[in-house]
Amino acid sequence: MVRDKRILLIIGGGIAAYKALDLVRRLRERGAKVRAVMTAAAQQFVTPLSVGALTADHVFTDLFDRQDEQDVGHIRLAREADLIVVAPATADLMAKLAQGLAGDLASAVLLATDKPVLMAPAMNPRMWAHPATRRNHAQLKADGVSFIGPNRGEMAESGEAGEGRMAEPLEIVAAVAALLDDAAKPLAGKRILVTSGPTHEPIDPVRYIANRSSGAQGTALAAALRDLGASVVFVTGPASVPPPSGVEVVRVETAREMLAAVQAALPADAAVMAAAVADWRVANQGAQKMKKDGSGRAPALEFAENPDILATVSKGDARPRLVVGFAAETETVVEHATAKRLRKGCDWIVANDVSPATGIMGGAENAVTLISAAGAEVWPRMAKDEVARRLAQRIAEALA
Ligand code: C5P
Repeated sequence: MVRDKRILLIIGGGIAAYKALDLVRRLRERGAKVRAVMTAAAQQFVTPLSVGALTADHVFTDLFDRQDEQDVGHIRLAREADLIVVAPATADLMAKLAQGLAGDLASAVLLATDKPVLMAPAMNPRMWAHPATRRNHAQLKADGVSFIGPNRGEMAESGEAGEGRMAEPLEIVAAVAALLDDAAKPLAGKRILVTSGPTHEPIDPVRYIANRSSGAQGTALAAALRDLGASVVFVTGPASVPPPSGVEVVRVETAREMLAAVQAALPADAAVMAAAVADWRVANQGAQKMKKDGSGRAPALEFAENPDILATVSKGDARPRLVVGFAAETETVVEHATAKRLRKGCDWIVANDVSPATGIMGGAENAVTLISAAGAEVWPRMAKDEVARRLAQRIAEALA
């Protein structure tokens, strides 16, 4: 994915700097050429000696080093890379670039470059949440800087939990690959079907039965798969978030319409069924709007079971190589989801607890457990976008 690419890694001063060492290894084992710049603060956490041993190159630390300036120079350093990665990107480095400050080598290189920049922020959750950092983040994004993370989790230095933990080296590698080259996208040439959103099951021409699914997770997934180069067919019920751009959108309303749309979209390399499909539809649907008849008696609705789209696809002739289901549960999540995986015949189940107290349904975050034949893997709570990116990466690995 990143073979023969020249990556300039700027290491900022934070405890997550130790992960930059692993990042160098991961990039180099994939054939990238990595050159490193370290800030003065970074050198308080890891030494240029260890970084240089891993990059097998000179490590640049000083804007005013006459030898370095003569041999390479900060402008060449900034321009000779295919991509600049800042990991960890501290609040200080973000603030410097957002303001256009260039008082040290790292910030001067960032200001002088004409190449894409990817930042992997890492800082204390309060620093990340501070209005100043929020402003800088928004400004940098508007200036075209890409970001990976931060993730939620426990902070190495304080044990505090929250958003601010640097993305893992492999996630950064995936983001690097996605940024570098369209042809290098691991899902290029793959067709992936994603279902999303709720379904609406009519009671009569004006009323329907629905559920609280917003379609946010399915939408994020479709976007993440698209970003890795997949051609995505996005079959969506009436969701409350708009579908992503750059995918083929098929809008449906009922479960039966969704099944038909899914079957029409096959064959595909993978199917990810994130829709919250209604289990039942109203069997005695009114052809006209139901009226009160003055008797005080409420009409009795009768239900019929909807087709199980996931099971139908998993057991069907045109079964994609990888079928992923979701399981929204409110109790004994792993047990129910493990049984569901076997019953429905899919490869993976992404299980989550949607009890109202979790705030997950309709919220921006998700806490999932990935269940496969290998067992249950508990993921920390993180943004739905981040769940999507990780899942897309795993799908890319499974289809590789
Ligand atoms: O059985 P349950 O609704 O909990 O299973 C959830 C998974 O099954 C999701 O992946 C959902 O998209 C899928 N499903 C389906 N068709 C149904 C019900 C659920 O594809 N009728």
